Amino acid sequence: MAPEVVDVRILVTGGTGQLGSAVVTRLRSAGEEVRVLSRRAGPDVVRGDLRTGRGIDSAVAGVDVVVHCATDYFGREAQLARTLIEAARWAGGPHLVYVSIVGVDRVPLGYYRAKEETERLVAASGLPVTIQRATQFHGLVRTLLGGASRLPVVPVPRVSFQPVDVRDVAKRLADLALDEPAGRAPDFGGPEVLSAAELAQAVGAASGRPRRIVPVRVPGETFRAYAAGEHLAPGHRDGVITFGEYLAERADHR
Ligand SMILES: NC(=O)c1ccc[n+]([C@@H]2O[C@H](COP(=O)([O-])OP(=O)(O)OC[C@H]3O[C@@H](n4cnc5c(N)ncnc54)[C@H](OP(=O)(O)O)[C@@H]3O)[C@@H](O)[C@H]2O)c1
Repeated sequence: MAPEVVDVRILVTGGTGQLGSAVVTRLRSAGEEVRVLSRRAGPDVVRGDLRTGRGIDSAVAGVDVVVHCATDYFGREAQLARTLIEAARWAGGPHLVYVSIVGVDRVPLGYYRAKEETERLVAASGLPVTIQRATQFHGLVRTLLGGASRLPVVPVPRVSFQPVDVRDVAKRLADLALDEPAGRAPDFGGPEVLSAAELAQAVGAASGRPRRIVPVRVPGETFRAYAAGEHLAPGHRDGVITFGEYLAERADHR
């Protein structure tokens, strides 16, 4: 007799964003039924706003898993999660997968503090949960060091990054979403730890305009934490797509 196939219904918040859209692609290509939450109307989208709560009850109704990739850069990260958790409780308690960042408890940035608070809310929600921290995405690192393609001499902070591709993180999240709740999962990092100088050099070279890179020390406790590598996960070089490969893919579109 053929094994019983159980359909898992999954809501991806932030499914229109960098990471969320990669999660949606991954899950759909694995044949899963995925609902995408967005504040804006679009094809295959359920409209809702996690800040006001509008539309969230219907978005969460009947799902088995919520992959929470929506984020707020203006201090409301925890508020978004509170709304989602409340709705999820009423909807019968789906598995909640939350994406966080390596070092949110060690780097004193406001956004990181909000993410750490949100991790705590998620962990204490009473829902079955999984929390996945990841290192910086390739796109963010490229944006941070984007000046490398414009200035003749580029000062870069004397820190390292471990950039990771959203497709690699999405694969991990899709696996976690379909598995048993794991609580705090092991950190997920990119394949290489590279200095900002090396990364800026790569951005400049990929844009066809190699620049002179000057590493500089940046004062302040946030940069001290970065310089100490608190945002890195060198023991978790899980991603396979390198920063160089990511840049090469974009070379045709510059
Ligand atoms: N960037 C990195 O380097 C990095 C590294 C590790 C972890 N992370 C984490 O990964 C997650 C995804 O990041 P990302 O870079 O993919 O984000 P992103 O591209 O900026 O996308 C943000 C998403 O949040 C949704 N959103 C924002 N406010 C909302 C609201 N009030 N209600 C409903 N949806 C809302 C947006 O949807 P609409 O605009 O369609 O409504 C959008 O899809 C975040 O939690 C981030 O902290 C990021």
